[in-house]
Amino acid sequence: MVSYKELGLVNSREIFKKAFEGKYAIPAFNFNNMEQMQAIIQACVEENSPVILQVSSGARKYANQTLLRYMAQGAVEYAKELGKNIPIVLHLDHGADFEICKSCVDMGFSSVMIDGSHHSYADNIALTRKVVEYAHQHDVTVEGELGVLAGIEDDVVAEHHTYTQPEEVEDFVSKTGVDSLAISIGTSHGANKFKPEQCTRNADGILIPPSLRFDILEACEKRIPGFPIVLHGASSVPQQYVATINQYGGALKDTIGIPEDELRRAAKSAVCKINIDSDGRLAMTAAIRENFAIHPEWFDPRQYLGPAREELKKLYAHKCVHVLGSAGKA
Ligand code: G3H
Ligand code: 13P
Ligand code: ZN
Repeated sequence: MVSYKELGLVNSREIFKKAFEGKYAIPAFNFNNMEQMQAIIQACVEENSPVILQVSSGARKYANQTLLRYMAQGAVEYAKELGKNIPIVLHLDHGADFEICKSCVDMGFSSVMIDGSHHSYADNIALTRKVVEYAHQHDVTVEGELGVLAGIEDDVVAEHHTYTQPEEVEDFVSKTGVDSLAISIGTSHGANKFKPEQCTRNADGILIPPSLRFDILEACEKRIPGFPIVLHGASSVPQQYVATINQYGGALKDTIGIPEDELRRAAKSAVCKINIDSDGRLAMTAAIRENFAIHPEWFDPRQYLGPAREELKKLYAHKCVHVLGSAGKA
């Protein structure tokens, strides 16, 4: 049993309180490897932003949960070495069951998500309550979820959203004791968040997706005043990365993300945490594909992972400064 406090990590309670009061959102960036972690820390230290390092089930399979935890411990020391002791949360993303959440609490995670959103309402409450009871004994904060985000594999994205029902949030929060709540208002995971036929075109022919359901967000805010809300699936899918990927042999199609203006609006509301993974994947892939094409003689991974890390760092800094408003808030 290791406490995150011994590792220099923090839970999300204090930073969410400040984010709520200051009308900004904390970035939650997923990481699976060293370059992603370095880019996140470099960007957040330079921009003086608090940060949530997020570990998904895919990341645990790919990189090993223990190794990722030691990397996060290293991130705390790395940030100090770079000159700033920014608040760093190590968070389990989409924990599927009690056992996964418990194992993360036991090995030094400071925050966990229990994603019971695919269960019935009653089962979601029971499972989330069980995780909260365990996590709170160790002062680890817990994120729950109500409503289902459409999956990237779904054929017709819109039909598969189950928007959060505002009538349920107060009951869910009080019965479970969660510290934050992820809601479904039209975002989804991956790089294909909308079908082109759901979008309209502006004068320049750019596809504009339907707006997020801010009415649902506002209704939730009214029912749980002051309570931190979380937005998953919040990548913007920058089209310059898609263009570079496709220019150098990629085959991405119908990639549409959440416009930055919508995220800026959300960050000023009760949304205190915004999850971004896919944009980092795109930035890294674009840089690697471009460098492979331009430098066919390169075979040292540092040659192409270095520029990819640099591009990632730019992306993360941009999010903190221009989208979430977390820069300068560490
Ligand atoms: O929530 C989804 C994240 O983008 C993580 O995805 O499990 O493929 O790492 P992953
Ligand atoms: P994106 O796929 O939009 O980056 O969302 C990531 C996420 O919500 C991780 O939990
Ligand atoms: Zn998610």
